Amino acid sequence: MSFKDKIIKERLPNHLAIIMDGNGRWAKMRGEHRIIGHQNGVEAVRQTVEGAAELGISYLTLYAFSTENWNRPQDEILGLMSLLVEAIENETPTLMKNNVRLKAIGDLESLPEEVREKLQGTIDNTAKNTGLTLVLALSYSSRWEIMNAVGKIAEKVHSGDLAPEDVNESIFESHLTTSGIPDPELMIRTSGENRISNFLLWQLAYSELYFTDLFWPDFTKEELYKALLNYQSRERRFGKTSEQLNDN
Ligand code: FPP
Repeated sequence: MSFKDKIIKERLPNHLAIIMDGNGRWAKMRGEHRIIGHQNGVEAVRQTVEGAAELGISYLTLYAFSTENWNRPQDEILGLMSLLVEAIENETPTLMKNNVRLKAIGDLESLPEEVREKLQGTIDNTAKNTGLTLVLALSYSSRWEIMNAVGKIAEKVHSGDLAPEDVNESIFESHLTTSGIPDPELMIRTSGENRISNFLLWQLAYSELYFTDLFWPDFTKEELYKALLNYQSRERRFGKTSEQLNDN
């Protein structure tokens, strides 16, 4: 019996976010170059997107490239960028066939032109799809996103378009790159690191966190189901007591 059969469809997260970590170590263990790890990570992306879409999850956010990743060796950055272009190009027909809508968050202007163009092309082509929304976090870091939002709000206050007393959580959220995307109920990180690493700091405020020792290229649909089952065994209280939740 697959873990899938045990999943309660009515209690799935609406939004699942994933830090795909461990590609480099996966490659090193095999005496391969880090880029081989990223290449094999693409298959795990495929399985996860397919698994999430089949289950009917509404949003899947994947941390594909962080602001800090720009500090990696140049050949790895170039390798990752061409892998992204290739994956976007190759996967667009599958995204269309599976009714998946692509979005991207992060400092997209800092991406190479070719990546930006391919990305925008697929975002436009899939914009009317109504199934899973796949959100790629690219050149993303949460502190960058928060400072970017603060800057935009400060400009509006300065120009008189926004009164300081009107700045509230919902105004702040509408200036984040995730504006319009609900907060994740579950965040998964692979590779045995138990950190959030500058990912969705605001949006993960009430999320359940799930950590697995598997390196990202070893992450499969079955592992996704396992994480979802673990999530379903938890009680989400949002600061309330168990009794208060049971009374409702
Ligand atoms: C982390 O592993 C992974 C990344 C920085 C990149 C993730 C990219 C992919 C899986 C490929 C393309 C993505 C898409 C969406 C098609 P790491 O290099 O930090 O591993 P390490 O911690 O072992 O060094």
